[in-house]
Amino acid sequence: MFSLAVFVSGRGSNLNSILNAPKLRNLIEVKAVVSNKADCQAFDIAKNHFIPVYNVGYKEGFLSFDELGNLFYSLKIDLIVLAGFLKLIPDSFVKSFKNKIINIHPALLPSFGGNGMYGMNVHKAVFDASAQISGASVHFVDETYDTGKIIAQRCVDISDAQSHEELAERVLKIEHQLLPFVIEKFALGKVFVDKTRVRVLN
Ligand code: GAR
Repeated sequence: MFSLAVFVSGRGSNLNSILNAPKLRNLIEVKAVVSNKADCQAFDIAKNHFIPVYNVGYKEGFLSFDELGNLFYSLKIDLIVLAGFLKLIPDSFVKSFKNKIINIHPALLPSFGGNGMYGMNVHKAVFDASAQISGASVHFVDETYDTGKIIAQRCVDISDAQSHEELAERVLKIEHQLLPFVIEKFALGKVFVDKTRVRVLN
């Protein structure tokens, strides 16, 4: 089994999409769900699946990123998936897990990314710019927000969207397809990184 750790901060619908993807059922195991929040809806989803949950950060009783890294080595985690995790990952942790951390972003990077661009802020910016398409991007995590190499993207027509909330709903549907798709490709050893591009084989 291909072992995952999933980082979350809130609702957990992307975590849910991973846990319920038929193609991932016999391919992956989510060994840890990690949050910067003491409690969040995503933790309830994890607990319903009997997946251990951990807190990371600088608050009392939380694991440090160094401790979490050691835990991941002992659990033999193959891939770390940021699924709605809204904190910056420290440089040292990124370096320890080079090309093993991916993030889903609810827009077509490299536009509409960066510090403060998360959740509804992203959809509002896309809507207010009058963009006619949006979508989701899965990318490698590097030391800054949303700048790592893009692995896969899907787009959606938003030319007739009436509000940023409606736009968000359309993008979320795409996210729930894209993230399991990318994880499946990693689990099958079909993601390759060369100097300039990421290649995902069919
Ligand atoms: C998702 O839309 C995800 O793309 C976004 O947070 C939401 C989490 O929803 N992530 C970011 O904005 C990161 N920059 P979920 O908790 O229901 O999966």
